[in-house]
Amino acid sequence: MRVLVVGNGGREHAIAWTLLQSPKVTRVYCIPGNGGTATLARCENANMRVDDFEGICRFAVTQGVAFAIIGPEAPLAAGLADELRSQSIPVFGPGRDGAQLEASKQWAKELMAQANIPTAASASFTDAAAAKAYVQQQGAPIVIKADGLASGKGVTVAMEIETAIAAIDESFSGKFGAAGQQVLIEEFMEGKEVSVLALTDGQTIRPLLPAQDHKRIGEGDQGPNTGGMGAYAPAPLATPALMERVQREILEPTVAALRDRGIDYCGVVYAGLMITPSGDPKVVEFNCRFGDPETQVVLPLLATPLHEVLQACIEKRLAALPPFAWKDAVAGCVVMAAGGYPGPFTKGQTIHGLDGLDGNGDRAIAFHAGTKRQSSAPNSPILTDGGRVLAVTSLGADFDDAFDRAYRAIAQIQFDGAYYRRDIANQVRSSVNLAPDRDGVAEDA
Ligand code: AMP
Ligand code: GLY
Repeated sequence: MRVLVVGNGGREHAIAWTLLQSPKVTRVYCIPGNGGTATLARCENANMRVDDFEGICRFAVTQGVAFAIIGPEAPLAAGLADELRSQSIPVFGPGRDGAQLEASKQWAKELMAQANIPTAASASFTDAAAAKAYVQQQGAPIVIKADGLASGKGVTVAMEIETAIAAIDESFSGKFGAAGQQVLIEEFMEGKEVSVLALTDGQTIRPLLPAQDHKRIGEGDQGPNTGGMGAYAPAPLATPALMERVQREILEPTVAALRDRGIDYCGVVYAGLMITPSGDPKVVEFNCRFGDPETQVVLPLLATPLHEVLQACIEKRLAALPPFAWKDAVAGCVVMAAGGYPGPFTKGQTIHGLDGLDGNGDRAIAFHAGTKRQSSAPNSPILTDGGRVLAVTSLGADFDDAFDRAYRAIAQIQFDGAYYRRDIANQVRSSVNLAPDRDGVAEDA
């Protein structure tokens, strides 16, 4: 079986790697992939742009792939799944209609309101003056969101009115292009966040293990938001009782509401949840795809072959599939970023120490995000090529074990300016101690 994976992040490397755990998957093609997928056995990158829909469709047909899986939101929102399906290529991932769940926050809010799904109260504006008047009336703290896709940068949690007003001005002055010409203003929710990635065939929906993301760049959750600096799964915050409620109050009503709108949704419904101080789950946002770096901790724990799960969704027989099986382990992931990220950073630094990871007995995997192979020659060096460079994941018997292994692996990897958070494990370690830095000396946060 040949499978096509579209995207070039750590998420796509993790998807390709997990698919290839099954001997039934003979080849994975990544468009365009990265340095990690380039060096993965039975995996091949095709150097094509993600927005070249015609080229991607032609490639999928020529290679005779059994199905395609689309990683990022942008091609989903732009209708790549529809194009592939029109060429008779089965796809795991929603069409343009279903992708609105992520691509328009207002659309998702209306769906939630109609289906009685718990979320923050909100109002939507296409006019800056009206938006500001609403903020003045509501007071702070308050949350300002560009309506469309803004690469995770369109949200401002404003603790003061002035910050909210500035965010409205920025959005309408074109900071996020067309995505920011409509603004959603939301009630501030207190609580703790958790990510639930659920798979659906449009009828049945089943959650994967809940995961904890770490969005801020700095230790102690300080500084600006990033694409995600680390993760672990299963997140203890999402107890089995809470997951029951998420299934009943959020996931099932979401799929039913999509169906009511005539949308045949096959893919991931990613519910970013706030668990309020009273213990109630509320939706912060929906994504229409796998999360990054959540995927890098969730998929390595999946014992059921991934292609079986994805094909069951594609063929609408998820209800008949036995419950997902999970390894008897937990997973931790720490992201290594380029110095300066999420601000300006340099690319093209040589990454050393990746080879040493193989067979070191630490069960650590370096999923590549922003990396590329310098040339297609065997043993060609791997270079940094993005802000988030590597997502180093390890499984363990418990979180202490998993993160000790992940941080030991990280200590073997070097590139100029490498930065990572040493506190990703802190919420789940049996005792809070920072991971040792490169000299093996723990420092204060
Ligand atoms: P989003 O891109 O919608 O996930 O928002 C980015 C981050 O902003 C979330 O992960 C939350 O930490 C925060 N956030 C978004 N909406 C709210 C809200 N209504 N109340 C509090 N925090 C929020
Ligand atoms: N980890 C956040 C996201 O994938 O959007």
